[in-house]
Amino acid sequence: MHRRIPLATLATLSMLTLAACGGGEADPADYPDDDITLVVPFAAGGPTDTVTRLIAEPMAEELGTEIVVQNVEGAGGTVAAGQVADADPDGYEVLIHHIGMSTAPGLYPDLAYDPLEDFKTIGLVTDVPMTIVARPDFEPETLEELATYVEENADTVTLANAGVGAASQLCGLLIEQQLGVDLTEVPYDGTGPALTDLVGGQVDFMCDQTTNTAGQIQSGDIKAYAVTTPEPVEALPDLPTTAEAGWTDVEVGVWHGLYVPADTPDEIVEKLTGALEVALQDQNVIDSMADLGTTPSPAEDVTPDAHTAKLQEQIDLWTPIIEESGVTGG
Ligand code: MLT
Repeated sequence: MHRRIPLATLATLSMLTLAACGGGEADPADYPDDDITLVVPFAAGGPTDTVTRLIAEPMAEELGTEIVVQNVEGAGGTVAAGQVADADPDGYEVLIHHIGMSTAPGLYPDLAYDPLEDFKTIGLVTDVPMTIVARPDFEPETLEELATYVEENADTVTLANAGVGAASQLCGLLIEQQLGVDLTEVPYDGTGPALTDLVGGQVDFMCDQTTNTAGQIQSGDIKAYAVTTPEPVEALPDLPTTAEAGWTDVEVGVWHGLYVPADTPDEIVEKLTGALEVALQDQNVIDSMADLGTTPSPAEDVTPDAHTAKLQEQIDLWTPIIEESGVTGG
């Protein structure tokens, strides 16, 4: 004999079934079955945003979903990193961050997250050279003249950056150490807006990634003095390296990587790493990065292990330098 089961009982039963299957949690095998948000810790239109948008499309294609880029500015990238550290560990919120992930522990004594403990790494993306650039009518013409000018006018010269924790701020700090000066810093939400002000003459100079400056250097909209890498940059053949000009303290490349919250299942991490690997072999990504003065990370660096090792090594490198400088973000 059949007995009618009341609807309310059926609802309760289906809730119990869901709970038994893991409280409705998605199966990593189905990942991704929704849009992924890729969080950029600086303003739209800047270098991190540019690299992100380049890789987002081929990654999305590989994963078979949409990738939505979200710019979360503030505190040199630490606001965005904090947001992703606290996100659900389901692979739907991914952070791109650069060298700032390794400088933040030295700069922010009360940092709300631990870069090594609170994230899983996905892989390295690119290592971008920086350039030392100035407003078009800034008096110095060479790096040597820049040194003399900055030393003589240290009380009036302004140095733009993307806030404490940004690569531009770190590079500016190295310049100040090299020249033995303490300049007036002008912080922005990213070097995208900083570059606009540099072109407009509102600030004097800054250190910024080629992925933001190459076009404006080539068009002559800004003045450029040097690249901060040991090797010259093919897209900017006229620029000497800082080492060639004797600025040995100012050597820095801006490495980028992708992160997810620490409890994200390995199966999801593997899928994201695979998609990043495919994106970095995309010819359009390779060509666009070359035009912007950089290259995709080599395949052996596009792994969680290589990325974690880089993060650890960079934290060990920068923390004592930052502590010695006395600079702090709060
Ligand atoms: C930085 O200085 O860290 C970057 O240029 C930030 C950005 O992407 O705007």
